[in-house]
Amino acid sequence: MRSLIVAGNWKMNASVKMTDALLSQLSNNAVQGVQQVVFPPAAYLSQAIKCLKDTAIKVGGQTCSEHEQGAYTGDISAAMLKDIGCEWALVGHSERRAYSLESDEQVLAKTQRLLEQSMTAVVCVGETLQERQQGQAFQQVKQQLKLLIEQLTENQWQRVVIAYEPVWAIGTGETASPVQAQEMHAFIRSELAAVSEQTAEQTHILYGGSVKAANAQELFAQPDIDGGLIGGASLDATEFLAISGS
Ligand code: PGA
Repeated sequence: MRSLIVAGNWKMNASVKMTDALLSQLSNNAVQGVQQVVFPPAAYLSQAIKCLKDTAIKVGGQTCSEHEQGAYTGDISAAMLKDIGCEWALVGHSERRAYSLESDEQVLAKTQRLLEQSMTAVVCVGETLQERQQGQAFQQVKQQLKLLIEQLTENQWQRVVIAYEPVWAIGTGETASPVQAQEMHAFIRSELAAVSEQTAEQTHILYGGSVKAANAQELFAQPDIDGGLIGGASLDATEFLAISGS
């Protein structure tokens, strides 16, 4: 039985004051039976780790370098994230694929760097509106998963979480219907069977894209949806807590 994961992707939204306020509300309202994770901007990771040190809430980076170390100005390595106390990181979020042109090869390399540090990688996949309209949604997601499925071992998959985030549903207020989301999650799980039946069965697959308290319950009730990756609504403690309790 897969437990529920509710993760908050703050994107480029935070301040010292906001981080303290939001995280103190989360830590004062522990939600049982769900793994909560927050992904603040890099500048606030150490602060977040300090705020949450006596809680079960995990902290993760929003990305990491595909390289181990060296002359990569502005980048942060998986080892550095681990060093400051992060156990998780996002990889291949659609905004990074779109604006930083992250390729599937880079997504694989970043995932490998995280796994070398025994961290958990939340790898994001999802089709654009155009791809969905052209009937290519499943093909696109299959392509984004291909290298990971080919290259990662069954053992490594134990630290990989997939987040299905249709690009057309991110920050738009438009959510995939529970039926649409379930259909894609079941497809992703069937692809993972190429690694092993156990990997397919045990890998957490989160849904992301305009999840809020009002729609979380219905989405999380789907058999192949194991929680959510929450953007906008994760900046509001009340919403994030309500989603976590869904
Ligand atoms: P959203 O973002 O919840 O604001 O749509 C989700 C995400 O990009 O992870």
